[in-house]
Amino acid sequence: MKEEPRILIVCGSPRKANSEMVSRKLVELLEGKAVPELVLLSEKNIQPWHEGHDKAKDDMPKLLEKFRTASAYIFVSPSYFGMPPGILKNFIDRTDVFFGQTSKFSKKFASIVSIGASPLGGGIEHNAECIRSYFHALGIRTLDIVYLIGKEKPEEILKEKDAIERLPQLVDNLLEAIKRFSEGGIK
Ligand SMILES: Cc1cc2nc3c(=O)[nH]c(=O)nc-3n(C[C@H](O)[C@H](O)[C@H](O)COP(=O)(O)O)c2cc1C
Repeated sequence: MKEEPRILIVCGSPRKANSEMVSRKLVELLEGKAVPELVLLSEKNIQPWHEGHDKAKDDMPKLLEKFRTASAYIFVSPSYFGMPPGILKNFIDRTDVFFGQTSKFSKKFASIVSIGASPLGGGIEHNAECIRSYFHALGIRTLDIVYLIGKEKPEEILKEKDAIERLPQLVDNLLEAIKRFSEGGIK
């Protein structure tokens, strides 16, 4: 029997709010179709990159293993001044152990949800572009980018038209790409 693809969802917010709400919704949408694995960076101990970081006693070794073995990635990230928050940047920097191994990652896909307080033009595109550029550096192909506006009551973010329409599309597109790739339809 064919194994279901493992999708790593990385939630980049340092708080339990809109990004976590969206990340949990993505888990729900993936269940039964794939094996979703949610990583809430707010709950992880991740040291910043430094000389000798590969010997750091933190949560990164386990996370690197999850990253290495996932079939695809969804990063859900708030925009902080048009960039990912520091905890997500620390996570990204620590995956430098995979830099230069594009042949391992070029068979993988990613999608991005970028969340900000302001609509387009307020930095959410730049935030998504930072993350897309990171995936590109590892050889991972980015498919969908969804922009959402954070709410004071985080559960309300799921009522946004783009959340209702585009999150299911993002999941379907990711699964379709993985399937087509495994059948040789995407080179
Ligand atoms: C330090 C900081 C910087 C921010 N910068 C921006 C920004 O440049 N543009 C924007 O639209 N929202 C900005 N925001 C708002 C957050 O992106 C917004 O509150 C988002 O919902 C946070 O995600 P969360 O609810 O998952 O934590 C900023 C928030 C913080 C704390």
